[in-house]
This record gives sequence, C-alpha cells and structure tokens, in this order.
Amino acid sequence: MTTMIWMKGITKTYRLGEITVPVLKGIDLNIEEGEYVAIMGVSGSGKTTLMNILGCLDRVTSGHYVFEGNNLIAYDDNQLAYIRNQRIGFVFQQFNLLPRATALENVMLPMVYANVPKSIRRERAKKALIQVGLSEWLHNRPNQLSGGQQQRVAIARALVNHPALVLADEPTGALDTKTSQDVINLLTELNEQGITIVLVTHESAIASQTKRVIHIQDGVVF
Ligand SMILES: Nc1ncnc2c1ncn2[C@@H]1O[C@H](COP(=O)(O)OP(=O)(O)O)[C@@H](O)[C@H]1O
Ligand SMILES: [Mg+2]
Repeated sequence: MTTMIWMKGITKTYRLGEITVPVLKGIDLNIEEGEYVAIMGVSGSGKTTLMNILGCLDRVTSGHYVFEGNNLIAYDDNQLAYIRNQRIGFVFQQFNLLPRATALENVMLPMVYANVPKSIRRERAKKALIQVGLSEWLHNRPNQLSGGQQQRVAIARALVNHPALVLADEPTGALDTKTSQDVINLLTELNEQGITIVLVTHESAIASQTKRVIHIQDGVVF
C-alpha cells in the first residue's frame, strides 16, 4: 500500500479579534491510496475545517501534512492551488453549481483552470456526465435538475480533471434518503475504480457504507 495522506499534530486556530478559537487540536491521520474513508462527527466538531486543510483550501496553524510525498506545509499558495486542481476533486453539501451555466458548462469549468485545451474540454465533460448517469441532461441548468441530479453534476465536475482524491463534505446532507443512497452508490463505484474517497457525514448509515470510519470530536480524532 502507498500512503497518500500523512498528517501529524495538525492544529488549526481561528482568530476573531482578541479571541482565539482552537478548532483542530492535534490531528494525526494516515490515508492510503485507494481507501474509502468516512470522517464522522457532530456539527461543530471540526470536519469541514479538516476537509479544507486536506483539500489545500486552507492552511494549518501547526503540524505536518504530506500529500503524495509532497510536504505541503512548505508549499506557497500557487503550489497548493496546483495540487488542488490536478489531484483533488470536491463535492459539497449545497452542490455549489453556477446557476446560469448548464450541466456541461459547470463540468467544463475546472478544465479552464487546469489549462486543458479548449478542443477537448467539451468531450471530457460530456464523458464525465455520462459516467454519472446524466447523458440526457447535458444542457439543463441547475434549477431544471433535481437535487440528486445537481449533486451528480457536482460529482462529474469533481471527476473531470481525473483526481486521485475526492473529498465529499456532507454530500448527502441536502438530499432525501433514496437520492442519498444513489449518491453513495456512485461514490462507492468511483472508489471501486481506484479513486481515493474521503467522505464527511454525521450519519452512521452513510459512514457504515465506507471501508473505514474515523471519528472526530471537539477537534480530535479517535
Ligand atoms: N472561519 C472561522 N472562524 C472562526 N471559527 C470558525 C471558522 N470556521 C469554523 N469555525 C468554528 O470551528 C468549529 C468547527 O467548525 P467546522 O469545521 O465547520 O465543523 P463541522 O464541519 O464539523 O460542523 C465551529 O465551532 C466553528 O464555529
Ligand atoms: Mg461542516
């Protein structure tokens, strides 16, 4: 097995004026390539803060973070953006799609930032949307799609730059039970194809479908 993520003693403290708010209090974490992991904890336990650090969207206050052999603590913002863009796909609770753009346009967007040649963006986006079962919905805008379909567009968008890691922060939080299960089935399929998946949830029925559950409470994992 090859280690993808190695974290040691990660802390994150927010500063609100005079007040400091310690949120992550010394997190140690190892995730191997190809794993399917749930991070579970109640609201406010630090899940999103941890995901933002995992996904190079935010920086640690202290500690070590090595991703695919890269010492990210030493990376500048541009280097972090490159890792984020090339290696990591994101799925959020509220989908975060552009409302005026079609499914196809939403999925093409990350390729613009990744400098994928214009000529192949459309075909690649189409392929990703077919992969998530949306071949009939390429030209619909988000408000013309159900919640489950919107989350599928978001998953296609996460996949389009062929990431090694998909980070999903409460991806079923805005969906009904049946649609949630469809989304989890899709993530399970992607993991079977070799993509490492880290999923945040507060529902044990979701977490139990992954291969490993990491519990977080008050900024500490156990
Ligand atoms: N930017 C911020 N500034 C100050 N406090 C924050 C910030 N982001 C999160 N927090 C606090 O950190 C704690 C954990 O938040 P979060 O990581 O979003 O938890 P979860 O995703 O598990 O609900 C909460 O108490 C929250 O209020
Ligand atoms: Mg959260």
